[in-house]
Amino acid sequence: RASELIDRYGRVAKDLRVSVTDRCNLRCTYCMPEEGPGWLPGGQLLSTDELARLLTIAVRDLGITEIRFTGGEPLLRPDLPDLIATAASLLPRPELSITTNGIGLAEKAHALAVAGLDRVNVSLDTIDRETFRVISRRDRLADVLRGLESAKHAGLKPVKVNALLQRGINDAHAADLLEFCLNHGYELRIIEHMPLDAGHLWRSDEMVTANEILASLAERFSLTPDPQLRGAAPAQRWLVDGGPATVGIIASVTKPFCGDCDRVRLTADGQVRNCLFASDETDLRSLLRGSADDEEIADQWRMAIWNKKPGHGINDPDFLQPSRPMSAIGG
Ligand code: GTP
Ligand code: 5AD
Ligand code: SF4
Repeated sequence: RASELIDRYGRVAKDLRVSVTDRCNLRCTYCMPEEGPGWLPGGQLLSTDELARLLTIAVRDLGITEIRFTGGEPLLRPDLPDLIATAASLLPRPELSITTNGIGLAEKAHALAVAGLDRVNVSLDTIDRETFRVISRRDRLADVLRGLESAKHAGLKPVKVNALLQRGINDAHAADLLEFCLNHGYELRIIEHMPLDAGHLWRSDEMVTANEILASLAERFSLTPDPQLRGAAPAQRWLVDGGPATVGIIASVTKPFCGDCDRVRLTADGQVRNCLFASDETDLRSLLRGSADDEEIADQWRMAIWNKKPGHGINDPDFLQPSRPMSAIGG
């Protein structure tokens, strides 16, 4: 019996993205409303022990080699260092990363690195304080910048910065953001906006496209394709002014990379999602809280991946946005 997580199109999931909470301390307009999206009841969130059990099954039985903790904001989970230490003790040791908004990272980066964290991706859409406050509805730019510095000093390398551009708000800031990242040794990736917001306000004609992003960066920098193999990475990388520094563009909408997808997601409430845009989920929480043994859980997990759709379908005329927002699925 194949032990890997394989789907009917032959893709193998090796990269597990675990949402450890749907809570967040920012309120980015493209993600959630001021009052929050309607949080999951606390009792539905997986406990430290439940998560540890699933991580063990994923690595030991299902061939997962990379684990990324996301949210919501993963640093809001007080047990994040324990979860990382547990994951780091598994064999073969998976690569461990987090995707965070950076708030609190200044205080936690060192302890997370000691626990076994390998690297971090930090969301930062602008380095202009007022624009940051408008986008995130919180005046916390300085905390994020301190978090980035601490991550670098804690040896969490490479430090990547994720930026999402919104037309008329921060789309003119792309080159400034790249300059900032080049100066500090962070790897910038600019992301196309996907229809995953809580308010279902996404409109395809309002999205800043990869081509527009490249054109605006090209006004200040010379960009040439990075010859390094891309594999299953979502970002297409460009050498900046001949390299070695790069900038990545994540063109999920205009250039989907679903054919190479190697991801599987676990939501904060213990559901396996085989795609960001999946229409259904597989409930592992009930199995964990019932009497299922590890083998049954692994089997359900394999079945969940087998049924993965070939692509996200965002560009199809009958596309329907998933009911769950990105903050609950895990970014
Ligand atoms: P690396 O391993 O550092 O390349 O991480 P990553 O880029 O896969 O992870 P990160 O959490 O930093 O995600 C950055 C952006 O990539 C997200 O905001 C999404 O826009 C996009 N992304 C992440 N996972 C997926 C996915 O499974 N499908 C699609 N279409 N986009 C994704
Ligand atoms: N489309 C693309 N990326 C998104 N993010 C949040 N919402 C969306 C969306 N609708 C990004 C954040 C962060 C990562 C976790 O996901 O900017 O970098
Ligand atoms: Fe994979 Fe779905 Fe993302 Fe496509 S949209 S890359 S299939 S998770």
